[in-house]
Amino acid sequence: MNALAPNPRPDIPAPVGLLAELTHRCPLRCPYCSNPLELDRRSRELDTGTWQRVLTEAAGLGILHVHLSGGEPTARDDIVDITATCARLGLYSNLITSGVGKAIDKLQALYDAGLDHVQLSVQGVDAQNAEKIGGLRNAQPQKLAFAEKVTGLGLPLTLNSVIHRGNIHEVEGFIDLAVKLGAKRLEVAHTQYYGWAYVNRAALMPNKADVDASIRIVEAARERLKGQLVIDLVVPDYYAKYPKACAGGWGRKLMNVTPGGKVLPCHAAETIPGLEFWYVTEHSLGDIWANAPAFTAYRGTDWMKEPCRSCDRREKDWGGCRCQALALAGDAAATDPACSLSPLHAKVRALATEEAAETPPDYTYRTIGANIRTPVKEDAPL
Ligand code: SF4
Ligand code: FES
Repeated sequence: MNALAPNPRPDIPAPVGLLAELTHRCPLRCPYCSNPLELDRRSRELDTGTWQRVLTEAAGLGILHVHLSGGEPTARDDIVDITATCARLGLYSNLITSGVGKAIDKLQALYDAGLDHVQLSVQGVDAQNAEKIGGLRNAQPQKLAFAEKVTGLGLPLTLNSVIHRGNIHEVEGFIDLAVKLGAKRLEVAHTQYYGWAYVNRAALMPNKADVDASIRIVEAARERLKGQLVIDLVVPDYYAKYPKACAGGWGRKLMNVTPGGKVLPCHAAETIPGLEFWYVTEHSLGDIWANAPAFTAYRGTDWMKEPCRSCDRREKDWGGCRCQALALAGDAAATDPACSLSPLHAKVRALATEEAAETPPDYTYRTIGANIRTPVKEDAPL
């Protein structure tokens, strides 16, 4: 492998971002985690040298942003070395962290190593509620202290709040919290139902009236806080008119490397049966981007069926989310049922309305080795 080999297929634009899932270990146990149900154990994690080679290949390929993620990336002993490698290669590094555990103790060293940006997850505003959602006592004060240290160092801070029925009443509070903590950006991201969130869908699904109210709150705050706080809003798919271009379109913008070195076009791609994934231990990143069967499977528009095939939005949203199409329609090449043009859309909307009206079941918390089966295969097609 030539680590500095550029994109071997110049006809395919280079990816913009690399999501480096350094570990699946995490002190939190969020029930909406996008990690797979079968989490990689520590013994399967790539070593430092392999990550450094992958980062070198990423820079050679033209990748600009590296999201150091997990799990909790600061759980790795080599997080500072990995961050320093990003800085040396000119890669913009974004630490996606829970802010608990060892995160605060490593922050100064990460800053010194050249870390560019911090994205901190916040599960709720009220501490008791937040800690119930994250499944960890005493997490909230740690997060607040961590955020204070980030801004104290002058690092740009983004707060990420995943919204669901357990915290949708706190949207205004998340905005106030972001302002109070000096964050530059807030992500109000309604839950996307893959991975653990799919298992917990009935516990997480909000009702339409609350969703609409949360969108109005964000729109008003955007106006009020112009120039002070940027608010990104991810609307919930099940109540949407059109789907989003998931991962920026399949094989168009993003590469996701798992702790064990498997390279995915999106974080839930492993739920699609029959896809062949390649590993960074066997192929260069450039080779994987250009030629790995998992990346070529749904790239572009040739694979599309109707109504996507003849739709004038097909190069805007790229047919929505393949993983959601599989989960809900039983066919990864189907139009994402979140789209109002999908024949299944009305059923999806009805399912969301029904689940949101029921008493929520208890959370199934994210756990390594939990042996939870994805419900996708048994009850998939609507
Ligand atoms: Fe997008 Fe397909 Fe819906 Fe058209 S039919 S809006 S391409 S998902
Ligand atoms: Fe896989 Fe959307 S999560 S394409």
